[in-house]
Amino acid sequence: MPNQVIKVDRSAPQLRCIACGRIALPDRFRCEYCRDLLEIIFPAWTEGGPGGRNAAGLKKLWRERRASPHPADLSGVWRFREILPEIAPEKVISLREGNTPLYELPHCARTAGIDHLYAKHQGMNPTGSFKDTGMTVAASFARQAGYRWVACASTGNTSASMAAYAARGGLHSLVLIPEGKISWGKLSQSLDYGALTCQLRTDFDGCVRVLNEVVERMSVYLLNSVNPYRVEGQKTAAFELLEQLEWTAPDHIIVPGGNLANSSALGKALREMQQLGFLARVPKLSVVQAQGANPLVRTIRETGGERLVAVQAETMASAIRIGNPASWKKALRVIGESGGTVEQVSETEIAVAKAEIGAEGIGCEPASAVTLAGLKKLVRRGFVTRGECVVLVLTGHVLKDADFTLKFHRGDLFDEAASEAERTNLRRHQRSPLVLDPSAEKVVELLSSAE
Ligand code: F0G
Repeated sequence: MPNQVIKVDRSAPQLRCIACGRIALPDRFRCEYCRDLLEIIFPAWTEGGPGGRNAAGLKKLWRERRASPHPADLSGVWRFREILPEIAPEKVISLREGNTPLYELPHCARTAGIDHLYAKHQGMNPTGSFKDTGMTVAASFARQAGYRWVACASTGNTSASMAAYAARGGLHSLVLIPEGKISWGKLSQSLDYGALTCQLRTDFDGCVRVLNEVVERMSVYLLNSVNPYRVEGQKTAAFELLEQLEWTAPDHIIVPGGNLANSSALGKALREMQQLGFLARVPKLSVVQAQGANPLVRTIRETGGERLVAVQAETMASAIRIGNPASWKKALRVIGESGGTVEQVSETEIAVAKAEIGAEGIGCEPASAVTLAGLKKLVRRGFVTRGECVVLVLTGHVLKDADFTLKFHRGDLFDEAASEAERTNLRRHQRSPLVLDPSAEKVVELLSSAE
């Protein structure tokens, strides 16, 4: 049993166990008593609000900062620093993350059967995924705490992000990834950013198991999403989204679910926004998983959320190929609090949705496209209705997995697996590259027959 007495500064942010409520030391990831995850709480907020400001004051301050050349204000994460744990400015590692666009998706809205659809594109972050918003906070904390090494197990995006932030901050980074199961684009990022990159002959869940043992033995700071500082940074996407919508809440926010930290982070942000008086009403937060990697869906449908149903994960959306998600309890809580739901989608539904998002000139990686595929099902279920405003959180950039995109358009992604009806539907979205002789005649001929 732990015997260290933890002295608590009652006004400073604290790490609290999500199960037993005990306070933990600032560099821990799990409660030393019940082994559950930790979350950061801000006791000082009850006395006058973050930074001594109320909701109106904060909204004004954050808007003013958008015109400021101050380095912290140029970051779409640190611009919201009043709702984040404090890090000494000289320790902050920033790549000007956040500040991501909110796009309208009129064609996708029509296909899904609703009037108003937006995409909050977190793939427009510096390393091409939403991970950067959390990494800037957690990597900065690691630097402040004096760690020399940081590490993560990853399906590719966390590792790319961690490697970049570590490199910027003068830290060494260790990456554990499942061999042959992440996109080469993501792998190449972590190589270029200088991480010690190990491909393990296992899956993501196996990499997590190995890493947990490594961090027990060595002084290496864990930057997986069980790290509560990452969750804090990822929260800012929801603040930024609501700011972009002039603080009028959409009816639904839909996110992909893998290890389930992002849904937890966005849900925590919504809870805090309501607590601080930013919002009168909270959007419903729903999580979509790939059918072959659906532990949260099964947990809810088969046990009512009582215990985790871990699965052997299998999906071409490799970012969310996760069978034993660490943050399942946090995700369950935010889905319940907001009145959201869960949905699962097939491989062909993901591929079609990805092509539809691409055809709007936006694009995203396969894992992000589960949101649109899931939305279509939620509309059919009647959970989302035509007049409601929906925001999809697109988590990764279209160039993250170019292999998937090329195979899809060439018709090589699904062979016998898809049914005839599915194949017809897939063909409607495929645009295979054409190979022609170098003749203007041929191109003109082709152009004349094109629409
Ligand atoms: N979308 C993308 C593009 C991701 O990379 C991930 C997770 C998710 C969605 C799911 O988010 O895990 O918070 O539920 N990628 C992690 C990684 C696991 O290692 O890059 P989550």
